[in-house]
This record gives sequence, structure tokens and C-alpha cells, in this order.
Amino acid sequence: MPDLKTLGFHHITMVATDAPRTLAFYGELLGFELVKKTVNFDDPGAYHLYFGRDGGRPGTILTFFEWAQARHGHWGVGGVHHLALGVATPEAQLKWKRRLTEAGVEVSGPIDRGYFKSLYFSDPDGQILEIATAGPGYAIDEPADALGRELLVPQKERLPGGRDEAAIERLTHPEPVPEVTPDMTLDGIHHITGITDDIERASDFYEEALGLRTVKKTYNQDDASTKHYFWARYDGGEVGHHSALTLFGWEGSRYVSRPGAGQTHHIAFRAGSADEQAAWREHLLSLGLDVTSVKDRTYFESIYFHAPDGLLLEIATDGPGFAVDEPADELGGALKLPTWLEERRPDIERKLVPLAGR
Ligand SMILES: [Fe+2]
Ligand SMILES: [Fe+2]
Repeated sequence: MPDLKTLGFHHITMVATDAPRTLAFYGELLGFELVKKTVNFDDPGAYHLYFGRDGGRPGTILTFFEWAQARHGHWGVGGVHHLALGVATPEAQLKWKRRLTEAGVEVSGPIDRGYFKSLYFSDPDGQILEIATAGPGYAIDEPADALGRELLVPQKERLPGGRDEAAIERLTHPEPVPEVTPDMTLDGIHHITGITDDIERASDFYEEALGLRTVKKTYNQDDASTKHYFWARYDGGEVGHHSALTLFGWEGSRYVSRPGAGQTHHIAFRAGSADEQAAWREHLLSLGLDVTSVKDRTYFESIYFHAPDGLLLEIATDGPGFAVDEPADELGGALKLPTWLEERRPDIERKLVPLAGR
């Protein structure tokens, strides 16, 4: 086991097709801050939008490659099934149900998963999203200092036949919710759930490669024949915020994810510093993984590699952060380009649909 342990997620990057629509959905409707408006450094004709909290705190960052022509993707082995955003309380979660429903978004839940309550919907490109409550947490069915040791069978009332679907559907906030109130703040990534074709291999990989620890071994509550494991930053005490990765185990399945619109492109974990990232790189190479060189992403530095089931992973440094090229109180206001693309600015701006700032 390595000494290196990631602090959790840095960001998640998804694919969308319509930048103004993405801004309206994640900015206005869900209340995230647009913290950077830039282009895809590997494809400068396309926007790369960054949303987050508190100016783009690691673990709260959602980014989008905007490719108007992208074909529609689909989840499957090696892909992400859904992204869960954190909310403090079940009451605030019901406010989200009301707000989203009134905005014409189809919402299901909240479903009591035991460890948290879950509300489900999709973004305009089809990316499956969840709003999950902060608690009660993973210690409801095993000791807090010994999570993830036993394979747990969900109680009957957690399985589809055991739920009162009509009562769940009726549940909502009693008043309209035209504004995102402070109690409703979506605090970035609660968990990310993907699909693997070999859950034990994935478990070894995330523990060895990233220093995550298994915090729950159970079955998928929507498909009790499928295993569902959870990993997170965990040392026998608190389970780290913004660090829970979960996978459905589709053993031997060849139903491979199809990249594209409405899908996750990659997920990024945190390295505290450039030195730590260099140590991660050496560590990953020592495991025989194919790891890229360090790429300068202006706001952080990145290395990329793949999980055994094909999922693209990144380790990104916490710094320098989004205030490196514009004032902290003007983040997301102007189109920012890396210096080496500045001379092409007129050409780049001509091709992009103008977007409002913050
Ligand atoms: Fe989930
Ligand atoms: Fe990334």
C-alpha cells in the first residue's frame, strides 16, 4: 500500500453540446458559480466551462467540454453512470425537487438509500445527476472505524418492491422555490458512480493506485443482483468529503460505455502540490500504468491514466487555482485564454457563441 492518499476529487469533466444551455442549467438553475470561461486547450474552437463553489474549491468543480457536434453517449463499463451533488438536509433536497420540477425537469425520488437520500434527474444533455443528502453516512450498518469489511445485503425496504413509490412521488416542498436559498447550496461532488466489469480488480486498483479505502460493500439497491462498492478517503475516522467513488459491478459485461454528449469525459483526483503529483506519477508508473507527462492546464497541472475498466482518470494539483489569470471577484467574467493562444483570440472569439459572465 502506498503512503500516498488522494484528498478526494478535484473535478469532473463532462461533455455538453450547447454552452448557453449548460450555463443556464448549472449556473442559474443549480446555482453554481461560473469560475472560468475558457477554451479546450487541445481544441480551442470549443468552450471549456468551469463551475464550482467558493471560486472553484477542489471537490466542487464541474467542467464541460462544449462540443456542438458531439454524438450522444451512453453509460456502460468504463464510464460514469451518474454524478451526485451534495446538499445539507432532506428539507433542502425537497426544495430542489420543487424547484427542478417547476423548471420542467423530470425528477424522481427522494429515495432513502440508508447512507443518504437521493433525488435523480438529468441535465439537458442527458447526464444523470443526483442530489444526495450529507447524512446520515456510512456508519448506519457497520462500525464507523471498520467500514467496508463485510459484504452487506440491503434491507428489503431499500429494494424496489419495498418502497412506497406513490408516497415518494408525492413528496415535495410545499411552496414554489424561485430562488436558490443558502440552505440549498449544492456543495460540489458528493459521489461519482461508474460501472466496471470486474469489481474486485477495481477495488484493488483504487486502493493501490489512489490510496482510497473501501467504505461500503453492498448490492445495488435498484438491481440487487449487482454488487455496489464504495471507496473514499478514509483512515478509520471520518470519510472524506468529496471523495466517494462508487461502482456497480457488471461482472464480465461487454456493454461498454460510449463517450459523447451527456457523458462524463474523465474524473480528476487531487494532488496537494506539484511535488506530490510527481510522487503520484512515479507511483503509478511503478504499478505498470501508462501515465502521461505533466500537462499545464493553467489553473492546475495534470497527469492522466486509465483505470483497468477503461475510465479516464486525472490527478490535478490544487494550485495555482482560478485566480491566476483574473481577479478572484471577477471569475468567469471574461473569456480567458492561455498565453500561447492569445494571438489567435480574434479568430477563436469569432467561432464561439457569446456567453454572459457571472
Ligand atoms: Fe448515487
Ligand atoms: Fe480534467
